[in-house]
Amino acid sequence: MDHFLYRDGALYAEDVSISEIADSVGTPFYVYSTATLLRHFRLFDDALEGMDHLVCYAMKAASNQAILKTLGDAGAGMDVVSQGEYLRAKAAGIPGNRIVFSGIGKTAEEIRTALTGGIRQFNVESEPEMAVLNAVALELGVIAPITIRVNPDVDARTHAKIATGKSENKFGIPISRARAVYAHAATLKGLKVIGIDVHIGSQLTDLTPFEQAYTKVAELTETLRNDGHEITRLDLGGGLGIPYVHSNQAPPLPADYGAVIKRTVGHLGCEVEIEPGRLIAGNAGLLITKVIYVKSGEDREFMILDAAMNDLIRPAMYDAHHDIIPVIEPAAAILPRTYDIVGPVCETGDTFARERAMPPVAADDLIAFRGAGAYGAVMASEYNSRPLIPEVLVNEDQFAVIRRRPTYEEMINRDTMPAWL
Ligand code: LLP
Repeated sequence: MDHFLYRDGALYAEDVSISEIADSVGTPFYVYSTATLLRHFRLFDDALEGMDHLVCYAMKAASNQAILKTLGDAGAGMDVVSQGEYLRAKAAGIPGNRIVFSGIGKTAEEIRTALTGGIRQFNVESEPEMAVLNAVALELGVIAPITIRVNPDVDARTHAKIATGKSENKFGIPISRARAVYAHAATLKGLKVIGIDVHIGSQLTDLTPFEQAYTKVAELTETLRNDGHEITRLDLGGGLGIPYVHSNQAPPLPADYGAVIKRTVGHLGCEVEIEPGRLIAGNAGLLITKVIYVKSGEDREFMILDAAMNDLIRPAMYDAHHDIIPVIEPAAAILPRTYDIVGPVCETGDTFARERAMPPVAADDLIAFRGAGAYGAVMASEYNSRPLIPEVLVNEDQFAVIRRRPTYEEMINRDTMPAWL
C-alpha cells in the first residue's frame, strides 16, 4: 500500500496535490511519501519483533539525506556500499554503530574512513579484502567487527542482472570454503569475526530462495560454532520484491518474510540484520513527467515525455515494467488508447513501455510512473546533457524540495578547459 491516491479526480501524494508540486518545481521530478517510507520500514521492523534485530535500509535504493533521516529517526540502520554512501549516511545523522558496510570492492581508503568514523560491522566479501581490512585496522590500532558474506549457491529466480547468490556471481565466498576462510579470519588480530552475511538477489517474488539460503546459513552457523567461532550476528541481506504491476501482482509480505527468518534462524539466538532497499523506497516514490508531444507513427502512437532513460533507467536496463498513470484521473467511461511511451533521448532504448493501454493524453498532461522510488533517482545520469531532476519529499500536507534541479550553468561549468585550448 502507498499514499499516492486520486482525490477529487487528481493524484495526491498524501495530502498534497501532484499538480501543485509540478507547478512549483517544474517537471520532471521524483516525489516521495514520508508515510509510505515509514510504513514499509515498520512492516519489516514488526516482522522481526521478538528477535534482537536491526533493519538496515539498503540506501543504494534511494539515498537522499532527507529519506535517510526520515528512516533513521524511526530507528533504521543503513547498509552502505561505498565511501560516498557512508559519508552521506553520517551526514544524515545516522550513528556509525547503525551502519553496516557491504560491497565486493572496498578500498583501503573506504575502510579507513569507516573505521575512523565508526561502523557496526564490515560484511567482508573476499580473502584479499580481509587482508586489507586487517592491515588498516592494525594501522589504526582498532579491531574491525566483521561478518563474512557467503555465496549459498541458491537461484534467486529473478532478473539475471540482479541475481547475486549463484556460484557464478561475483559476490561473497563460496559457502563450501567458509570453514577455511573463517579459520583464517580468526588468526587475524585486527579483526573480530562476529557473524555471517548473505544476500542472494533483488526483486525476489518467491520466498523459497530465501528459505533455502537462510537454512544453509543456519547450518553454517552450527558448523562454525562447533569449530569454535562465536557467531552472534546474522546479516540476511535484502531482496524482497514489490508489486510493479499493481493490478495483478502480490509478492510476499514482510510479515511472511519475517516468518521465514524466524523459522530458519530463529533458534540460533543470533542478532539478525536485514537490508531491504526496494521494498522500503520503491512504492514510496513516483516519477512525475509531462507529455511533450503525441506523435503518430506508421502503425502506432508515440507518447513523448519530458522524462527519459537518463532519469529512470530501469525499463531500458532490466526491461522493467512501471505502471504509468495520468495525474488527472480519467473518467471511468473513457476508452483507452495504446501508446509507445518514450523519452526524448536519441536512442531507441529510451522507451519506457511499448503498446501500453492508457487513457488518451494530450501535450502538457502530467503523467506519473509508479514504483519509481527505488533505483530511480540514484541511477540517473546527465546523458544528453539533461540535468539531474529534483527530488521532493511530502509529509502529510507539506512538501519540500530535497534536491533541487541544478541550473544549466552549474552542469556545464563542472567541465574545465585544459590550458592548451
Ligand atoms: N544488500 C545488498 C548487499 C545488495 O546488494 C542489495 C541490492 C540490497 C541489500 C538491497 O536489495 P533490495 O532489497 O533493494 O532488493 N538497480 C536494480 C537493483 C540492484 C540491487 C542491488 N543490490 C534495479 O533497479 O532493479
